Amino acid sequence: MIQLIRGFKDILPGEVELWQKIENTARTLFENFGFKEIRIPIMEKTELFSRSIGEETDIVQKEMYTFPDRKGDLVTLRPEATASIVRSYIQHKMYAANPVQKLYVIGPMFRRERPQKGRYRQFYQIDAEILGVASPLADIQLIFMLVKLFSLLQVENALPHINSLGCPDCRPGFKADLTAFLSDRADKLCSDCVRRSIKNPLRVLDCKVPACQEAIAGSPSILDTLCDPCRKDFDTVKTMLEQMNITYVVNPRLVRGLDYYNRTTFEIQTGDLGAQNAVAGGGRYDGLVQMLGGPDQPATGFAIGFDRLAEVSGFRPEDLIRSPDLYIAALGEKSRSIAFNWHCEMSLKGIRSEMDFQNRSLKSQMKRADKLGANHVLILGDEELKEGAALFRNMKTKEQSKIVLSEVVDRINKLIPR
Ligand code: HAM
Repeated sequence: MIQLIRGFKDILPGEVELWQKIENTARTLFENFGFKEIRIPIMEKTELFSRSIGEETDIVQKEMYTFPDRKGDLVTLRPEATASIVRSYIQHKMYAANPVQKLYVIGPMFRRERPQKGRYRQFYQIDAEILGVASPLADIQLIFMLVKLFSLLQVENALPHINSLGCPDCRPGFKADLTAFLSDRADKLCSDCVRRSIKNPLRVLDCKVPACQEAIAGSPSILDTLCDPCRKDFDTVKTMLEQMNITYVVNPRLVRGLDYYNRTTFEIQTGDLGAQNAVAGGGRYDGLVQMLGGPDQPATGFAIGFDRLAEVSGFRPEDLIRSPDLYIAALGEKSRSIAFNWHCEMSLKGIRSEMDFQNRSLKSQMKRADKLGANHVLILGDEELKEGAALFRNMKTKEQSKIVLSEVVDRINKLIPR
């Protein structure tokens, strides 16, 4: 038997109801905030991701599904959505009509990481971006929207961690301080961090290896070296979040795994997911649009890990499964063909109906109706056929009535609440 690929998964009926609930809640909320959906390709030129996310990041170095297509061009299954959204913003000159674009994407991403709880090789993201706004109000709105979405989905213990990564004016100074600090401790760092401390020293700050954590205790804080405009921006974010009663923690070690960020960055972390504690992450990336060949437009955004959100949501799929409104139990060929027409007509009218397509006994059809939790049953056996009236039963109240065959669809349409 051919099994699915390691780190990939099926989302089956019974589980998918929760995914639908999350997706519908996010769509409604985002659209109320003025976001529009955009659909972007699953595959892009490799260069788009390596340039945006950064050559030295773990994603580009070791996690991308990259391969030459049949003509030898290097293509990559998207590991995230931000780079593609920015490409699309530039390619379709969206900025010309209106530089401010609020866009969202829901879909699968691919990263060849080591699979474990909360970490998959095909995972899903709910991604939202605000392009063309420099004001920290955009970042605040994104964090506010995330917190509200998590509360609508009954996520407990979700806490925003925020930080500022400075800008090209103030970050180099911090990088130099950090590099000096790390070089004194190189013998205590893991081999990845020794490499990072030269090429991408900020990434050492969020290494999960306990020895590295110990070695960097007391490392300089980026928040002590922010330039005035970055500090002012970050202060506004903090003040406004407080005014909006959003609890957060400032985490100067929050450096994110992608290179395009500047200024405010954030993650929503939860204690309920073990090592994979980030349910969402994002921040400002003011240089990316220009770096990819577009105009000088600022931008900010986030992505939620859909799989992780499904794990921490207080909703359980079994509470969301909708049982049929009506089960039609028919006996014999003639009854079954009448029932089949009813079933089709009623489904079109928005009544969720079910029937048996095999030659099962009435008893086993009733058992099936019970198992499905059908709210009503309509019975058309030999007797009912002879009488010219079907038996309609409310499974909760056990009330029953007879309905003349020619009136079944109309009557049931009125009797079943939707
Ligand atoms: P990211 O932090 O790489 O950011 O991913 C965002 C979220 O996706 C993570 O917090 C996590 O919940 C989920 N995630 C990442 N990798 C996996 C995985 N292997 N399995 C399951 N879930 C995963 C980004 O992708 C940025 N594009 C976010 C962004 C948008 N920044 C600005 N705009």
